[in-house]
Amino acid sequence: MRLHHARLLRSNGLSAPDTFYIAAGDEPDRDARGLVLSPGWMDLHAHLRDPGAPQKETLETGARSAAAGGFTHVVAMANTDPPTDSAGRLTELRRRSEALPIKVDFVGALTKGLTGDSLTDARALKSAGAVALSDDGRHALDAGLLEVGLWRAGGAGLPVLIHPQLERLGTEPAAEVEAIREAIEALRRTADAHLHLQHVSTQGSIGLIAAAKGAGLRLTAEVTPHHLALTAAELRISGPLAKVNPPLRTAADAIALREALIDGIVDVIATDHAPHEDAVKHDEETAAYGLHGFETALATVLTLGLPWEVVHRACVAGPRRILGQELLDEWVLIDPDQEWLVEPESFYSRGHNTPLKGRRMRGRVVMTVVGGKVVHGAEVAVA
Ligand code: DOR
Ligand code: ZN
Repeated sequence: MRLHHARLLRSNGLSAPDTFYIAAGDEPDRDARGLVLSPGWMDLHAHLRDPGAPQKETLETGARSAAAGGFTHVVAMANTDPPTDSAGRLTELRRRSEALPIKVDFVGALTKGLTGDSLTDARALKSAGAVALSDDGRHALDAGLLEVGLWRAGGAGLPVLIHPQLERLGTEPAAEVEAIREAIEALRRTADAHLHLQHVSTQGSIGLIAAAKGAGLRLTAEVTPHHLALTAAELRISGPLAKVNPPLRTAADAIALREALIDGIVDVIATDHAPHEDAVKHDEETAAYGLHGFETALATVLTLGLPWEVVHRACVAGPRRILGQELLDEWVLIDPDQEWLVEPESFYSRGHNTPLKGRRMRGRVVMTVVGGKVVHGAEVAVA
């Protein structure tokens, strides 16, 4: 397919309109005036619930949903049932992922059963194709075991992704700040290790990250679209649909996160796509933590009004750099001005749990292309 008059998203921002070839086959030419052609977005942090909870998501529904959101590459967390804590389980997931329309990679658990008691076999998981180790969903291990985990993962050539939140301190900002402080201390004592902080949510974390990076430590960090765009006030509007871990914070926190992203203290935006069925998102007290992420992420990010080069760094280049992944023939065609209504019933994902339900958003994925194949949006006529 020839795409006429699209602006191309590059690392230094948008380039002038031009003609691009993005898909093979007999796709008709399209007039892409006003649209932005971006290299496919990569999501470092997603929960695909497979195996174990097909009422929430499967590899297939998750991949289809990611494609609809403009993601051509996603990384699935290990907090499945059973967890991905052995080479055998990882190998089986990788085998199944070959048939998916986008690239899906998997982390291996850092500790067996994510209980924080004993480490998994980093080398075996690496050989089976794990791209990182993570116990995301919780942070049960103590600083001593994290240090050993960093040594072993570093030796195996794998980054360690942590959900920084000391469980004994609950979900308050201090639980995150102290977990990050402790983890940076552990990182300081390890050679070869790469530590990545997941879903950083609070202002107090930013200074610690900046200082550790300034000291030359191999540390990277992500923020979610929801922590950038929403605050705890959302809980009064959306109730359990806004319940997520870490929780939505204050406006000052959200602004500090945006500034840290622009300054490069925070490296990437990752969705923490956490689909749940309606039955567990009703009651304030007992509701499960987590928000649907894939299909609202792009509009949420574009609405922040970040410079395009920051969008490229946070959503295209940064995630791949962190995991040492190459950008292949992956594209997303974006209409930055299109307005649309968030109707979760029409999501490709099984998780309809978004506080953005019923909201008008601006910025839409027109088409997603992987390896010359249109994996989302072929039916949408441009021009
Ligand atoms: O809100 C969350 N949901 N935070 C997590 O860390 C885990 C995730 C999930 O698995 O549902
Ligand atoms: Zn988490």
